[in-house]
Amino acid sequence: MSGTTGVPLARITGTGRYLPEQIMSNADLEKLVETSDEWIRTRTGIRERRIAPVGVTAADMGAEAGRRALRDAGVDAADVDMIIVSTATPDRLLPSTACDVQALLGSPRAGAYDFSTACSGFPYGLSIAQGHIAAGHAETVLVVCTEKMSSIVDWTDRTTCVLFGDGAGAAVVQRGAESSGRILSSFMKSDGTLAELLYRPAGGVRIPIDSTVLETRTHTLKMAGPEVFKSAVRSMCEAAEGAIHRAGLKPEQIDYLIPHQANLRIIEATARYAGVPMEKVFVNVDRYGNMSSASLAVAFDEARESGFVTPGSLALLVAFGAGFTWAANVVQL
Ligand code: UT7
Repeated sequence: MSGTTGVPLARITGTGRYLPEQIMSNADLEKLVETSDEWIRTRTGIRERRIAPVGVTAADMGAEAGRRALRDAGVDAADVDMIIVSTATPDRLLPSTACDVQALLGSPRAGAYDFSTACSGFPYGLSIAQGHIAAGHAETVLVVCTEKMSSIVDWTDRTTCVLFGDGAGAAVVQRGAESSGRILSSFMKSDGTLAELLYRPAGGVRIPIDSTVLETRTHTLKMAGPEVFKSAVRSMCEAAEGAIHRAGLKPEQIDYLIPHQANLRIIEATARYAGVPMEKVFVNVDRYGNMSSASLAVAFDEARESGFVTPGSLALLVAFGAGFTWAANVVQL
């Protein structure tokens, strides 16, 4: 589905995040692989990222981000109707990480499921939440984006391991007539023909784990960086344009851009295309690297909490990721 025009009455009423305490700097990475702080900073904008300790899982981080979002919304975990979790790093292959989050939060009446759209998880999740509310399935949906990327990167591959970090972000989406937090539009798209430019070749049903997989590290994340870069810029621009159009707005009416945080150069190119000056673009890739779907969820929470975005203004959320998938929302703050 390529999206729908603003379904009314779905609002973001709270957000939260969880970032592990341990910081891994570019200098730390210089000790692991042949790289330099200078290369990482100039090519990506990343200075440091967070790494979750052994034993802390995607569900643990997601539940904590969810708890904080519920607190921000003033909603009790017992009143959540649906928990949807975006993760590329599930705790187990079966059951879903969402069910683990449901158990950790204690939400007895919530439905729970995972969805898999990689870095585009937050705008896809907001759109799905909006759909549940519009269809009357739910009054309160908790969208959780949680990623332990450190568990799937190849720590011997300098072309990928310097890029990623761990963390979680969450949002509470509720039915409500008030304008603040209103999701004005959604845009979602995909192109599965490009899947193998960013993927984990083995570990699923197609190539189950065996000793060859472990030796060749094909269960870890592989990325054709420059090809992904070009698609990311093109697709984020398309999603931005699509969401603005579906909200019935003109680009100049957008006050803030909150993009997926994969690479500062991708963010700058998207901002140029969307016509949003960099001082109106929220950036935290320098502090966290790419946390896949958690990046945009954390960025949105930080932008709200820090006062970077002002109440009543219009924010464009846009992301691109493995699949390929790309998506955007216009949100009234
Ligand atoms: O989350 C959504 C999906 N992900 C993305 O959107 C990421 C998209 N891609 C990118 O952000 C960029 O392509 C990268 C940051 C991954 C790479 O930047 P680039 O400017 O496209 O570099 P490149 O891959 O073309 O590599 C340039 C050079 C190569 O050396 P030669 O062949 O020119 O001698 C690489 O081997 O940089 C080398 N290189 C490194 N050098 C030091 C690659 N990785 C590193 C490294 N440290 N970590």
